[in-house]
Amino acid sequence: MFKHAQLESVKAWINDPAHNAQALHVRIQRAIRQLILDGALPVGKALPASRPLAQSLGVSRDTVESAYSQLHAEGFIERRVGSGSFVSQRARCLPLRKRQRPAHSEAPVQLSRRGEALLQSGGVHNFQSPRPFAPGVAETRHFPLAIWEKLERQVYKEYGTRALEPSEPQGMAPLRRAIADYLNLERGAQASAERILILTSSQQALGLCAQVLMDPGEQVLVEDPLYQGTRKAATAAGLECLPVPVDDRGMQVDAMARLAPDAGALFLTPSHQYPTGATLSLDRRLQAIEWAHQQRAWIIEDDYDSEFHYEGRPTACVQGLDPHGRTLYIGTFTKSLFAGLRIGYLVLPPQLVAPMTAARTLQDGHTASVAQLTLARFIEGGHFGAHVRSMRTLYGRRRDALAGLVREHLGAFLAPQVPAGGLQMACHFHRDLPEDAVVKAAKAAGIDLMGLGSLYATPRNDVGLLMGFAAQTPGEMAVAVKALAKVLDGR
Ligand SMILES: Cc1ncc(COP(=O)(O)O)c(C=O)c1O
Repeated sequence: MFKHAQLESVKAWINDPAHNAQALHVRIQRAIRQLILDGALPVGKALPASRPLAQSLGVSRDTVESAYSQLHAEGFIERRVGSGSFVSQRARCLPLRKRQRPAHSEAPVQLSRRGEALLQSGGVHNFQSPRPFAPGVAETRHFPLAIWEKLERQVYKEYGTRALEPSEPQGMAPLRRAIADYLNLERGAQASAERILILTSSQQALGLCAQVLMDPGEQVLVEDPLYQGTRKAATAAGLECLPVPVDDRGMQVDAMARLAPDAGALFLTPSHQYPTGATLSLDRRLQAIEWAHQQRAWIIEDDYDSEFHYEGRPTACVQGLDPHGRTLYIGTFTKSLFAGLRIGYLVLPPQLVAPMTAARTLQDGHTASVAQLTLARFIEGGHFGAHVRSMRTLYGRRRDALAGLVREHLGAFLAPQVPAGGLQMACHFHRDLPEDAVVKAAKAAGIDLMGLGSLYATPRNDVGLLMGFAAQTPGEMAVAVKALAKVLDGR
């Protein structure tokens, strides 16, 4: 017979509302299996006969029989004709859970050194959109969802169950063609479907570049200040980041060769430098291309939000200017469409297509096919261009609205540095303010900001704040700016 505690434990399990979806015999079988796994019923222990156990539990004998049959089939118990049921010898090999070993949650987990470093990096910042001022977050409330839904239905209709199959490893051809056409026309790129690798994000592209092109210990040149995702991707690959200062014409490329004659790559955000918003001047673009050519180094061009340029047309991309094929171009739909889409891409020099595609398949196979096919139609049908144009007008107004609000309500603390493009604005402190403390206090007041100091190679605590303006209406921003004024007044 079971001891009182064991019987109570079986009763508690079968009456637990969390197990309601299971049939009664399954609940009894799981409860007894749990006792065996916990070591409460040791090897060789006789189980109660089915009739008395059925009586104690208030169930039919058949129900207990079904539970025992299942335990027998799974090898937890042996049934001997004439003598009853016993915990099987095989249960000796089971890892005991509660009694003999500490619970998993109590034992400290041993990560690799790399795993520990990844954990300490904190991952890439995820803001809780739609909280005000989260940098780089797009407005999703204006997205033409009905069109997207219609196009997705068309994909299922045309492809049938073929739409459920895995994507080509390099990405679906219609999407690669649509992106290449768009980039050649709008960004002055030299792209073709054969040279495009569809990915989940530009973050994945940054990680692949860092891992596939360089060895741990190699030096790479990065902008200072720098997008954290780039620094983390490079650091995770064991690369040494050498910061190059940025001014109002972008990265000071001329300082670069002096800094690192042997660097293997240069990570750039030329359209709108992150976070300053500066556009890399043409002479510096050409200098960077020449440097990469001479050095046989790579330029990694992160063109994450060039669609949103508010002062005339954006400058053509570096990749299109590079006659030597040393530039890898990274694009993403996180800003231009929506972050949940998870589609980004690389435009590669031809000789890098095979190695990058192989490396990517090892990470996560491929990108979801239906989303790719829907996006291809969205671009081909002119909906991408139309959406970008209308959001560009909207974001331009929001940028101006935020600059006005900062001047009016936060002018005593902050000066906005109005960017020519992008979705966020750097605002500099007039006086010494503890950036970290301001960011924390703002967070508690429901406002997501990024401290600019955290983006510098040597973090400082007095630089200012990075404020996203794309995802909030001027009215919503006004409320948040006033709340932020209270936070700053309290300093
Ligand atoms: C400079 C830069 N690159 C890349 C990204 C991320 O885009 P994705 O979602 O495609 O990784 C961001 C997002 O904030 C960014 O600011």
